[in-house]
Amino acid sequence: MVNLNGRDLLTLIDYSPAEIKHLVDLSYELKKEKIQGRFPKRLNNKNIALIFEKPSTRTRCAFTVACYDEGAHPEYLGKGDIQMGKKESIADTARVLSRYFDGIEFRGFEHRTVEELAKFSTVPVWNGLTDQFHPTQILADLLTIKENFGDFGGLKMVYMGDGRNNMANSLMIGSAKMGIDFGVAAPKSLWPEEQLIGKAKDIAGNNSRVDFSEDPYEAVKGVDVVYTDVWVSMGEEDKPGMSDRIKSLEPYQITTQIMEASQKDGAIFLHCLPAVHGREVTEEVFEGKWSKVFDQAENRLHTIKAVMVASIGV
Ligand code: CP
Ligand code: NVA
Repeated sequence: MVNLNGRDLLTLIDYSPAEIKHLVDLSYELKKEKIQGRFPKRLNNKNIALIFEKPSTRTRCAFTVACYDEGAHPEYLGKGDIQMGKKESIADTARVLSRYFDGIEFRGFEHRTVEELAKFSTVPVWNGLTDQFHPTQILADLLTIKENFGDFGGLKMVYMGDGRNNMANSLMIGSAKMGIDFGVAAPKSLWPEEQLIGKAKDIAGNNSRVDFSEDPYEAVKGVDVVYTDVWVSMGEEDKPGMSDRIKSLEPYQITTQIMEASQKDGAIFLHCLPAVHGREVTEEVFEGKWSKVFDQAENRLHTIKAVMVASIGV
């Protein structure tokens, strides 16, 4: 019996396959419930802090709407709105916010900020994206995969693009947990960090594969889910080397030829969004028959709702 009461969600590394499956199944039920117009208010009178150091459309709106759907009150604390990081430490902020709020979402730069918040908070802390991980996005991706394929075991996913970013890291861990064969197609310099690859391989064990390739056509063969993300993530825009990175990733753009090279009739295209149309994915694929990106974006709402309901709901 899965019980996630009081739990933080910082990365899916900390969650068992049964716990992840529980959250995806709960999201599926909550989505059905909303479509039927039923709103049981499992978060009635709860107060939720939404800390955003970086911009957001989906994560912010999903948390906000999920709160209202379930009877909770969201409070948006944007960049520059609170003292954290300037006049006040993360530890003190966590202890103060815990006296007002029942749960804290954090989106920002360094992963250790969300870890520090969780360490000192007495209420659950949920990671709404850091430079290293984006776990609530993976839950939405898994729900979208479940809706299209029914289950996870035996499926194959390839991620093309910046293999060192939060999405590649999180998809690699999420796939390993759920028994999905996971491949990264990118120049070797953009493959994930060795230590995280080791962790993913340990998690996958004999249940699934974790592979890396520099050949996009080889990597996409037999794949059910083709995934990409922006080539330059939030906070990297002004870093040196970005134009070289973009150039090096051009062969990994998701095109109709790449999708067809999967040789799978039911193959789908996913992107966490926001997307740079015409860069990491062609307009033809983004708008084409394979694309499930707006179902995926909608599923952010149902999965984030499930995370809050499971950890602080009644
Ligand atoms: N996918 C995602 O996290 O989108 P936002 O940056 O709009 O929240
Ligand atoms: N890798 C992207 C994901 C956005 C949801 C970024 O961090 O900007």
